[in-house]
Amino acid sequence: GLVNTREMFKRAINGGYAIPAFNFNNMEQLQAIIKASSDKKSPVILQVSKGARAYANETLLRYLAQGAVEYAKELGCEHPEICLHLDHGDSFEICKSCVDSGFSSVMIDGSSLPYEENVALTKKVVEYAHQFDVTVEGELGVLAGVEDEVVAEESHYTQPEEVIDFVTRTGCDSLAISIGTSHGAYKFKPEQCTRDPKTGKLVPPPLAFDVLDAIMEKLPGFPIVLHGSSSVPQEYVDIINANGGKLPDAVGIPEEQLRKASKSAVCKINIDSDSRLAFTAAVRKVFNDKPGEFDPRKYCGPARDLMYDLYCHKITEVLGSDNKL
Ligand code: G3H
Ligand code: 13P
Ligand code: NA
Ligand code: ZN
Repeated sequence: GLVNTREMFKRAINGGYAIPAFNFNNMEQLQAIIKASSDKKSPVILQVSKGARAYANETLLRYLAQGAVEYAKELGCEHPEICLHLDHGDSFEICKSCVDSGFSSVMIDGSSLPYEENVALTKKVVEYAHQFDVTVEGELGVLAGVEDEVVAEESHYTQPEEVIDFVTRTGCDSLAISIGTSHGAYKFKPEQCTRDPKTGKLVPPPLAFDVLDAIMEKLPGFPIVLHGSSSVPQEYVDIINANGGKLPDAVGIPEEQLRKASKSAVCKINIDSDSRLAFTAAVRKVFNDKPGEFDPRKYCGPARDLMYDLYCHKITEVLGSDNKL
């Protein structure tokens, strides 16, 4: 069946790699995730957001995830390690509902609350979830969002002075931190970046590895989580823009920095936007190349293939979680 994150994280920290946490909203994404993680023998975390629950129905998503364990075995993976995780739970009730319905892990994101309220809410979720051996991810520090026009800046970084108090008082199993990543395909404003003189592409500022180091020093061996870790591959952005799309100056986290983070106590790396870009690039290309095509399998199929390639690449070339089953 589905597993929680405890053993996965322990091995990832000792082995110097990170577990991929991929969001899914539909069958094609799930198939691509499971085929990639099975073929590459990687543990994997399937993430369901509030938006995914609203779009695809929580019950259907849960059955898809439970079916994924059998699907992985059909694909020849004898001992799959698949975790079903609630991404960015924002209340005790939503976390409880996921625990009750069979999720093996939940995130309670109280990062926007005042510190003491975040502690109290996270502790309440941990006390409930641990009765059912469900692991809990908490968050300290605020990830900037393009939505609210706040872009990653130092004042939102996780404060290393707070982390020991937070994890001991809440009992959470892992901690999501803010060191300059953010959600979506526009992680940095052009004015925060330099430009590559040859390609004209934006080069983002580096993540705050000094803050990560200070956090790890306070919490030796404790599992750290990085949200907002899409790299926004320019090849996908270019395909999208060449086929009627419009994503000017989309920019993500360079893979080299994620490779470096993976080798540290960062043991869960969240990726959603890159999968959306791959899906959209493939669909736009089919629509442009074959205007007469109207069978969804003829464009969702290529989208699934491209997402499979993306997930394999993340596992083997960035996170290093291949051959770990
Ligand atoms: O945290 C953000 C994830 O990419 C999920 O996004 O809320 O649009 O499903 P969503
Ligand atoms: P990206 O938008 O960078 O893919 O981040 C996803 C994420 O953090 C989901 O929780
Ligand atoms: Na790691
Ligand atoms: Zn996130």
